Amino acid sequence: MLAMKLEHVTKTFGDVEAVSDVSLEVAAGELFGLLGPNGSGKTTLIKLLTGQLPPNGGAISVLDMDVLRNPITVREKVGIIPEQETPPSFLTAEEYLQFVCTIRKLDRVDDRCDRWFSLLDFADQKPVLCKDLSRGTRQKLMVAQAFLHEPLLAFIDEPLINLDPLIQRSFKDFLLDYIGKGRTIFFSTHVLEIAEEICTDIAILHRGHIVYKGPLSEVMKSHMHLEDFFIDRVHRGGP
Ligand SMILES: Nc1ncnc2c1ncn2[C@@H]1O[C@H](COP(=O)(O)OP(=O)(O)O)[C@@H](O)[C@H]1O
Ligand SMILES: [Mg+2]
Repeated sequence: MLAMKLEHVTKTFGDVEAVSDVSLEVAAGELFGLLGPNGSGKTTLIKLLTGQLPPNGGAISVLDMDVLRNPITVREKVGIIPEQETPPSFLTAEEYLQFVCTIRKLDRVDDRCDRWFSLLDFADQKPVLCKDLSRGTRQKLMVAQAFLHEPLLAFIDEPLINLDPLIQRSFKDFLLDYIGKGRTIFFSTHVLEIAEEICTDIAILHRGHIVYKGPLSEVMKSHMHLEDFFIDRVHRGGP
């Protein structure tokens, strides 16, 4: 089963073509890494896939739904960890996760929230207002909110940057376990070590174009480190 399919998707901002004629399929159960230098179009592509931006052209289907026609249903079904956003300053950490559970009409609210406070080791921060949390703790909340409803598909934009190594390890193990259950993770990063460690499949985006896509095992067969492979593809600029 396909988790998503893009056909000839293009997005422009004025004169800038942020995403250029991108076609891509991601199968259910993949831990898919979207790699690319800063400004290559990763965040724009994730916003297109999650119905946060309309494309200028092309077709996008997510969990067998046309994203342009069903942006709200798509957002209900998937989880999203955005690149920039932080939780609302005026709620405590615990209230924020409870709030997300309410919006998503979830049962067993305390169990769901406690699982994340425990997995990411920040139960002591439950009563703290989000405005007073450290950056890393706010990022933990953003991770938790995306998974409270156990979505079939989660989009994660540069997920691990503010997390310390111990928490990164727990989260990576969680992601590997998650795809083991047939769910799909689509994440963007420019940190190649993380991609090399956990991805099943990758695409390399350069100036809005996909210059490589395939299983990570294919890259490894070339006996190149992902970093050398990445630099080679980005310099070549072609598929
Ligand atoms: N809202 C916007 N308005 C104008 N230009 C944008 C906007 N969002 C992104 N861009 C431009 O699109 C390109 C891709 O950006 P982005 O998707 O954020 O890349 P990445 O996430 O890979 O760093 C960049 O040139 C960026 O400046
Ligand atoms: Mg980005």
